[in-house]
Formats: sequence, C-alpha cells, structure tokens
Amino acid sequence: MNAYVGTATSRVDGRAKVTGAAKYAGEFAADGLAHGFVVAATIPRGRIARLDTSETLKVKGVLDVLTHAHRPPLADKDEAWKDEVAPEEGSPFRPLYDDSIKFNGQPIALVVAEDWETAKFAATLVRVDYQEEQSFATDLEAERSKGAEVKQLHKPRGDAARALAGASVRHEADYFVPTEHHNPMELFATTTVWDGNGRLTVYDKTQGVQNVHKFLCSVFGKKPDDIRVLSPYVGGAFGSGLRPQYQVVLATLAALALERSVRVGLTRQQMYGLGHRPATIERVGLGAKPDGTLDAVTHEATAVTSRYEDFSRNDTGWAEQLYKSPNSRFSHKLVRLDVSTPCDMRAPGAASGVCALECAMDELAVALKLDPIELRLKSYSDRDQSEDLPYTSKQLRECYARGAEAFGWSRRNPAPRSMRDGKELVGWGMATGVWEALQMPVAARIVLTANGHAEVSCAASDIGTGTYTIVAQVAADALGLPIENISVRLADSTLPQAPVEGGSWMAASSAHAVLGAAEDIRQDLARLASTMPASPLGGVDAADVILVDGTISKNGDKGRAVSIADAMRYGKLERLEKQKLNQFAEDKSHARNTHSAVFAEVKVDEQLGVIRVTRVVSAVAAGRILNTKTGRSQIMGGVVWGIGMALHEETVMDHRFGRIMNPNIAEYHIPVNADIHDIDVIFVEERDDRINRLGVKGLGEIGIVGVPAAIANAVYHATGKRIRRFPITLDKLLD
Ligand code: MOS
Repeated sequence: MNAYVGTATSRVDGRAKVTGAAKYAGEFAADGLAHGFVVAATIPRGRIARLDTSETLKVKGVLDVLTHAHRPPLADKDEAWKDEVAPEEGSPFRPLYDDSIKFNGQPIALVVAEDWETAKFAATLVRVDYQEEQSFATDLEAERSKGAEVKQLHKPRGDAARALAGASVRHEADYFVPTEHHNPMELFATTTVWDGNGRLTVYDKTQGVQNVHKFLCSVFGKKPDDIRVLSPYVGGAFGSGLRPQYQVVLATLAALALERSVRVGLTRQQMYGLGHRPATIERVGLGAKPDGTLDAVTHEATAVTSRYEDFSRNDTGWAEQLYKSPNSRFSHKLVRLDVSTPCDMRAPGAASGVCALECAMDELAVALKLDPIELRLKSYSDRDQSEDLPYTSKQLRECYARGAEAFGWSRRNPAPRSMRDGKELVGWGMATGVWEALQMPVAARIVLTANGHAEVSCAASDIGTGTYTIVAQVAADALGLPIENISVRLADSTLPQAPVEGGSWMAASSAHAVLGAAEDIRQDLARLASTMPASPLGGVDAADVILVDGTISKNGDKGRAVSIADAMRYGKLERLEKQKLNQFAEDKSHARNTHSAVFAEVKVDEQLGVIRVTRVVSAVAAGRILNTKTGRSQIMGGVVWGIGMALHEETVMDHRFGRIMNPNIAEYHIPVNADIHDIDVIFVEERDDRINRLGVKGLGEIGIVGVPAAIANAVYHATGKRIRRFPITLDKLLD
C-alpha cells in the first residue's frame, strides 16, 4: 500500500525543471506579445506633480505609457483590492491608481513597447516632478516610541512584571531583526495573453492562482469566465507570492488598454518594492527561580508596517506555547513608516520572534550556569500553555536528544572561548524551533482511464516545495498504480479549489484531498468488480477492498483480485472521474505544531572576525514525512536561509532619502555555496493518528526557525561576545 508515501521519491517535475521544459510566468509566448517596463518613484512620500511621457512616446517601438492619468478603469473601493491574505486593517496598494506616492520604488508608470529592451530604454525618458512631503520616516529605531499596540492572540498569565523584577536570575534585552527581502531565483513576472473579446489568460508568478483570479476579476470588474490564471512552475517565492503583486495588475491593465498580449517582468531591483520581512525590535525578558525553572516570560515586539496597512504576525506567542511559566505577558506594536507593506516571509513572526526568544534563553542559561538544553527541559511543556491543550503529538524532547547525540553536544566545554581549531575559535550553540501544523480546505480531482493511468488535478501551486511529487505519491499508493502512471496538473484557476500555498499547510491539505478522491474511485471500482460474472470479489464488502498493483483486491488476499482494466471494460467505462473537497473536521481539543532542535558549530577567525558555520544538525518533529528527499531539501533550504538571517541578510535604507541602498544580490548578501558546509537533517518521526489520516504536518517553514539563534549562540560560545543585532557581521565582532 505504501510504495511511495514515506520514501525518498525523486521529484516528478525534476526532469522538466533541469531540462528547461518547465515554463515560468515570464516565459510563455503569445502572438504579438508586447512588453511592459515599470517606472518607479524615487521619493518615499508625496505626490506626482507632473509626469511627462512625450519623449518616451517618440521612441520607435513604444506603444503606450500607462499612468494614473492614462489607463483603463480600476476598482475604487478598498474591498475590491483585498485578496485572501491581505491584512484586515487598511487600504491595499493600487498601482497607477492616483498621484500619491507611498513608498520609494512605487510603480508610477508602465512603458509598453514591442520589445523589452525598447521599453526599458524608453522608461528612462519619462520625466517626473514630485511635490515632496517634507516629513517622512523609514527608521524603526528612531520611531520606536510611536509603536501602537495591536490585538494580541495570547493571554497574559499572572503578574509578569512583578515576577520578572523579583526573579532570582533575570535576563532582559532587545534583539534587532533587520528588514529582509525575498530573493527567489525567479524574478516576478506576468504574461497576460489577450484571447480576444476581453478574455484573458494570465501566467503569473504567484503562490495562489485562484486568489489572483478572484482579485483580478474584482479589480477589473470581470466575470469569472473572462479570466484564467496559471502558474505551473514557480521558482521560489517564500511568501512574496502570497498576495497578488503589482506586476499582475500592470500586465493585465496593459493588455486591456492595448487589446493585445503583454508581459511585465520586474528587475531584481524593482522586486525590493514588493513586500519584505519587517524590521522588528524584539524585547524579551526571562526570570528564573534558583533551580532554573522559568517564573516570568515577557516578549514585546515592535515591528514596521506601512502607512496604509496593518501587517502583523505572531512574533511573541511562541514562548507561551513552548515553555511553562506561571507569569507571562506578550505585546505586539506596529510603527507606521513610509515603506511598502511588509508581507509574509518564510515562518513569518516565528523566524524573528523565536530567534530573540532562543537567544535570550541562551543568555539565561549562561547566567544560571546551566546547560542550554537542560534549561529548556526544566520548563518543557507537554501542553500548549496558551490554550491549555494537549498536542496531537510533540516529540521535541526526542529532537533535543537525537540532535545532541548526532552533534556530539556532550563534548561541549561550556566556557566561552574554550574551544579552538588552529587560529579559529570554535563555538557550539543550540536553539528550539516551533511552527504551526495548519490544514486548509482543498479539493482534488482524479480521472482514471481504463489503461491504468490517472490524472490528478488541483489548483494548488507548487512553489518548489514538492507538491507535484507528494500528490503523485499519494495518488499512486491510493490507486495502487506505479507513479509513472500518474500525471499531476496544478496551479490553474479552473482546477478544483485550493487556497494560496503557504503557511506549511499544503502538503497535508492536498494529500488528503487526493486521498478522498481516490477513496471514491476505489468504492466505485469495488462495487463494479464485485458484480462481474463469477467475480472473485463476489460477496466481498467494498470496505474490504483495496487497489494494488493495478488490481481491485480483497484486502489481505491477493488471490481474489480483478484488474482495473477488466472492471472498467465490464462497466463500459472509458474513464472514472471523482472530485473531492477535503475540509478537515474542526478539532479544538488539541494543539497542532511542528518542532525542531537546531545545533550549530561556528568557527571564528580571531583576528579578522570572519565567521563560518561549519556544521548544523537540525532534528525535526513534523509528524509523518511524506517524502524524505523533498522533505530533507525543505529543511536544508530553511537552514541555509537561517545562516543568511544570522550572518548575511539585511536591507539597508538610507533614511535621509527613504531609499533602499542595496536592492540587488551583490550588496544584499545571501549565503553562497562557499558559506554552506555540513547540514545534517534528522526526522524524528511522530506517529500522529489525531491530526489527520496520514499523520502529516508539513515542513515548509519549520526549517528556518531556531537556526539564526543557534548560530548567534554558537558565536557567543566561540568568542564570548553577545551580538543582539542581526546580521552578525564581522565588524560587530571586532567592535
Ligand atoms: Mo510561506 S511565508 O507561508 O509562503
């Protein structure tokens, strides 16, 4: 039954990707395709006083220049611009809507030409005069006192302020996580194909085609059948593709204006005008009793949002889930700045908040002279403290043990600067990771043909995480067919319902939709087979029948079987089609989370301060792993990004101009191959019969959580220097 689920099955789309057969949004061709290039604002706040396109329009090959004053109609109401992941509070950004400038890098014109180079050149000839607003702000730390509290999901307990003040050992500090930008390999792009009569086929880089479909229909006042959205392949997005981004509006706007197909591709620099991980000051306070158990936890996050929307995520609630403490208080404040609205970036909230929490735990362990794992075990909680619920499964204790064993943690000398390798100081640090195990309603359709092939389809995207592969695995096992006989279609808005792919919910959600549809197929086939003349399955209950090796068999008795092909021929069926929406039963009796224990080794050049992360062991408890190969890749990717968060990534703003100074991957540093050494992923398998039938939790985000803290703690252990301002660059070590 389980030929594929739980194995290291290679990506079913791997060949298409490496041979270039897989097409991305900016690669689709169309007759008479025109190309749009974006002109971006160069001030952070103000109005467009004059926008002169006369020189641009003189360039041969330029077709039109769209601006707020010259464009087809766009919806006016805020509600029309709210997609399924937009913040509840605020007024979403509308490109080319009016003359107001809300952030530096905002699109203010689209030059459309016969080819991209012409559009790009002609865009340099657009003249803009601004009416600049004298007061603007882009610096979180300078504006910190203006933070306004947002609603907290987490309830306070006891009297945290008093307990913290009276704690026998106390640690309280600010940790600074800078603005970070998504840098997926694939640039944002949309190809909107003009099908005639106002009908459009939109190839968009997005994590959710149905979300974009609804959004476009609403923004352009179109009927559902007028627009179809596809994103068959996505070259990474990490949250930047959850909300519809402005290029999809611009490409569609231009297609409607010109009544022809248009592609809009953003440059890497322009992508720094999309969303970002908000800069956040995380203030964590921990108070312990003399025995090292926690008595007080306080966590206050002060994060950036834009002037026009309230974006916030759960930075602070994780301590409450992770550790027992009789007193706790959490608060989240937003500071409005003249920047674009932040958006989700891998493990939004947790990546930043748990980073601060787990650095603070390390500092407390040092103050208590306790081993960092021991400190965590002293306040270990088998229940979710905030809701006082048991977990469907929680093998974090096992993660600590197995991770420590693999890493060799018992050989650690706890004294800072005590371990060396030649001229390098060696440091070992660890941290905990936690994320949610969410599930969403998803539908899948299976069409089984008499030749033993099945096509599985669903509107879900595969953003590189492996959805194509796990869908094929689950279908192959449930239908009893070789995986080669399964073809998977995803990411087309006309396919069965799916939300955006994010939040680590798609593996569990899509797998169970496929399972549900396969179940219905099995029942039909069982009924059919049992009614065949002289059927070996005569009298066998449908519930007792399985699909295996291309046959319909009595469970546990392979001798009593009918081939799928024979049954379908008997029933005069060319194809058998089933569609199932999987809702997941609401169950508020248990908390659902994934956990990890991350161990890092750094080597630091004592003279130069150069830091290398030479080893990382990540022990992850995330239920049953559907695919140990793509799953491992997810965690490795998270670890690599965690290394970037710890040591490299930072969007640097010149606050005098409110402009990003490093909007490119030469100056916005991300880890390169030379930065990556040993990464060991251990899956601590959890048997979880409660969460869902397959016991699956999802792996997209847990891989990054805890990694930056483990590295920061290792840097402290190596050097005796505690850096609370990320990224940890060598100048901070030498300072
Ligand atoms: Mo992920 S930040 O939910 O794409």
